[in-house]
Amino acid sequence: EIENNLRPKSIGEYIGQEKVKEKLNIFIEAAKMRNEALDHVLLYGPPGLGKTTLSSIISHEMGVNLKITSGPAIERPGDLAAILTNLSENDVLFIDEIHRLSRSVEEVLYPAMEDYALDIIIGKGPSARSIRLDLSKFTLIGATTRAGLLTSPLRDRFGVICKLELYKPEELGEIIIRSANILGILIEKSAAIEIARRSRGTPRIANRILKRIRDFAQVKGNGMITHEIANNGLKLLEVDEYGLDNTDRNILRTIISKFSGGPVGLDTLAASTGEERTTIEDVYEPFLLQLGFIERTPKGRKVTKLGYEHLGIKWE
Ligand code: ADE
Repeated sequence: EIENNLRPKSIGEYIGQEKVKEKLNIFIEAAKMRNEALDHVLLYGPPGLGKTTLSSIISHEMGVNLKITSGPAIERPGDLAAILTNLSENDVLFIDEIHRLSRSVEEVLYPAMEDYALDIIIGKGPSARSIRLDLSKFTLIGATTRAGLLTSPLRDRFGVICKLELYKPEELGEIIIRSANILGILIEKSAAIEIARRSRGTPRIANRILKRIRDFAQVKGNGMITHEIANNGLKLLEVDEYGLDNTDRNILRTIISKFSGGPVGLDTLAASTGEERTTIEDVYEPFLLQLGFIERTPKGRKVTKLGYEHLGIKWE
């Protein structure tokens, strides 16, 4: 699968997130020296920054198997028990959207993380008793968009907590050039930088735009992504100078036209833009905040002077 080919397989191939890589490198090396499972790792940050990729790199570097699942996919405690009892020594279990685990499933996870054990209740009522089943030692990697979404008992059981940051344009430029090489796409350096600048700090978006601009270059040019082709393709995709798309602009415009620029609460904003509250919070807001187009106040979100200027609307 092409999507998977773009994913780096070793930590050396992984571009950006320097702090996270530095920490993980040390903890992985130490765990390997001691012949132990790596301590449980929590990865948090906006979607598309490489949490799944990092978990596959960690399992690769540890030389163990990786099992991938997600919070919503594990419906009942028995589902999790089945997964845990099938892990081999030091394996990695990746749970995406770990904040969406149900309470009852989360409770199975506590002794599993802490003591590598499952507490199974046998029988009902006064004769019910609990037996403890030993598990292989394993590493849980949990991923979530915001660490604050986790209950504190769950958060407290992670020994390693890593925050993924939006990527710098130079890092995204390197990722785009690497992806273009893998996909056999010819691209000018300035075109790669242009796409990088407008990819909202997110490799998943950069790679998606790269593929669409490749289509554009094949139909409208000779297949080579020149700076001009990139600019024209981005126009077709309605990605503006700063990388904002229609939804970003709709959020800004709604705050300005319906709420006089804010402050407006998230739920009200979600209702009037037709976007989910969590989508605004996890996907759109981090980048708009980073650009300085909106700000968070105790009373809600406000569009800044910069945000008004970007839309060409007078600020007062
Ligand atoms: N593709 C997606 N994310 C990447 C990263 N961080 N480094 C290299 N290639 C990537």
